[in-house]
Amino acid sequence: MGRSISSSSTISLIFLLPYIFLLSVDLFGTNLRANDIPKLVQKDCDFSTVQDFCNNIFKNDSRAQWATTKFNLENITIRLAYSNYTKIARKVLTITSNETNLEFRRIYRYCLHQYLLVRSDLENLIHVLHLQGDLDQAAQNASSHIFTCMGYFTHFSNISNPFAHDNENLVYFFELIRDIYFAPL
Ligand SMILES: *[C@@H]1O[C@H](CO)[C@@H](O)[C@H](O)[C@H]1NC(C)=O
Ligand SMILES: *[C@@H]1O[C@H](CO)[C@@H](O)[C@H](O)[C@H]1NC(C)=O
Ligand SMILES: *[C@@H]1O[C@H](CO)[C@@H](O)[C@H](O)[C@H]1NC(C)=O
Ligand SMILES: *[C@@H]1O[C@H](CO)[C@@H](O)[C@H](O)[C@H]1NC(C)=O
Ligand SMILES: *[C@@H]1O[C@H](CO)[C@@H](O)[C@H](O)[C@H]1NC(C)=O
Ligand SMILES: *[C@@H]1O[C@H](CO)[C@@H](O)[C@H](O)[C@H]1NC(C)=O
Repeated sequence: MGRSISSSSTISLIFLLPYIFLLSVDLFGTNLRANDIPKLVQKDCDFSTVQDFCNNIFKNDSRAQWATTKFNLENITIRLAYSNYTKIARKVLTITSNETNLEFRRIYRYCLHQYLLVRSDLENLIHVLHLQGDLDQAAQNASSHIFTCMGYFTHFSNISNPFAHDNENLVYFFELIRDIYFAPL
């Protein structure tokens, strides 16, 4: 009796083994997709002054998962910043052209002008990256135009800034580019 129980449990174990194996492989795969922030990205985000922002943008980026060098990460960050910028610049254009209050529209237009300059700053960042030049200075140049836009709203403090959050995101991107450039990787 005892013998037949033990042999049947041995048999079921043998049948179950492939499933246990498959299950553990799948769990491992799920863990990898859900939580694994590559070491390079982790090190960078830990070093960065905008840590949460860094973790958030890389967490779900498939290219960042394969980044093996500082150059890769710099490239990815600049491309992410560029695509963010393109959407934001379009929004600034739409809000500015739809604004009926002339006084508001005048301030928005000043910002729109700064945003047009940021496009060349981003092109310049790509260029400087490929020349292995000074990304710190190039990123600061880009930020300076965003700060100029913010400054208009500080000056006219009775006009609320509809681009405040977008400006903040772009400044974080440029800060992150500088941090990766300076990171001891
Ligand atoms: C993460 O990526 C997946 C697939 O690429 C996408 O479906 C999901 O919406 C993304 N989540 C966030 C928070 O971006
Ligand atoms: C930089 O990123 C872009 C967009 O992801 C990619 O097309 C390009 O090949 C990358 N450049 C290098 C040198 O890795
Ligand atoms: C710009 O990027 C930030 C950070 O990833 C994101 O929260 C924001 O929604 C983006 N803005 C646009 C207009 O896509
Ligand atoms: C005004 O806003 C609407 C959406 O709210 C947009 O479709 C339209 O293109 C805007 N007008 C201009 C001139 O950008
Ligand atoms: C930053 O901007 C200044 C002034 O426009 C320019 O002379 C300089 O070349 C820029 N630096 C970089 C690294 O792009
Ligand atoms: C905002 O303040 C300026 C003076 O600083 C004034 O000339 C302007 O009319 C004000 N605009 C609004 C919309 O209140």
